Amino acid sequence: MSTLPAERLESSAPVLSMRGVSKHFGAVAALTDIELDVHAGEVVALVGDNGAGKSTLVKILSGVHPQDAGTVTFDGKDVTIHSPVDAINLGIATVFQDLALCDNLTVVDNLFLGRELAPWRLNEVEMEVQSWKLLRQLSAKIPSVRIAVASLSGGQRQTVAIARSLLGSPKLIILDEPTAALGVEQTAEVLNLVERLRENGLAVIMISHNMQDVQAVSDRVAVLRLGRNNGTFRMKDVSTDDLIAAITGATDNVVTQRAAQTGAAGAGGKPGVPPEAPAEDRQPAAGTDEGSEQ
Ligand SMILES: Nc1ncnc2c1ncn2[C@@H]1O[C@H](COP(=O)(O)OP(=O)(O)O)[C@@H](O)[C@H]1O
Ligand SMILES: [Mg+2]
Repeated sequence: MSTLPAERLESSAPVLSMRGVSKHFGAVAALTDIELDVHAGEVVALVGDNGAGKSTLVKILSGVHPQDAGTVTFDGKDVTIHSPVDAINLGIATVFQDLALCDNLTVVDNLFLGRELAPWRLNEVEMEVQSWKLLRQLSAKIPSVRIAVASLSGGQRQTVAIARSLLGSPKLIILDEPTAALGVEQTAEVLNLVERLRENGLAVIMISHNMQDVQAVSDRVAVLRLGRNNGTFRMKDVSTDDLIAAITGATDNVVTQRAAQTGAAGAGGKPGVPPEAPAEDRQPAAGTDEGSEQ
């Protein structure tokens, strides 16, 4: 197994590094002073309540919106991502929640849509061979690459969308709620797929609302709250309660954030909550979520 322990991963240079990244929409501060690192062969879950800024962060990385401030370093270079084409050329692939598949087209056609092999005519055989190779690499359970995407299950459709994003040989893949619409069995299939991506050395950012899914596959989890970092945790050090507290704001203080980022909370006391955190900063989770939407 090629998965590295989180400690070793964190000592290597990250593939993606965001520092001080901010984004406003008019008067709304969607993101403020965001930091995020993701390493090769690492799955980082990005979690947070509605309105926390997850989609905005993804849109900055995928070239949909420019950031107002801060730096993005990718593969060792400071980069400016002006457009989705820029993102893809850099090696950042995003699988958006709507998947953007064409239901009436086959699996092969969807995989190669817009980048058909051979300049003057479609090389059908080669595309089919490559499709199978790609799907095998992902241990994907697709019955045939010549059937319409409409006849596939939700999990299989997610697989096709992920496979398509891999054709550009990205270094970072961003998955927006990959299991949101799926049942138990299909969720397991997609989570296996995320593990294949990690084994293949990709850096993965996975947005999810499902703490079970997050805990099943992530090496680290980055919590956003009201557009700010609210803790980055190693998955093995953090409990579900602590994660939910960070999402809802019950551990909303600088001490907690620092301890979580440096891993200092692992020694002794409750993981993710430093023993020196003042009691008055511990608010009940319920009813503290004044700023988020819905
Ligand atoms: N295009 C936009 N125009 C104006 N406000 C936006 C836009 N996109 C997001 N926002 C606002 O930015 C904040 C963060 O939103 P978003 O990134 O969608 O959060 P999340 O994906 O975590 O639910 C919210 O207050 C949202 O209303
Ligand atoms: Mg969103």
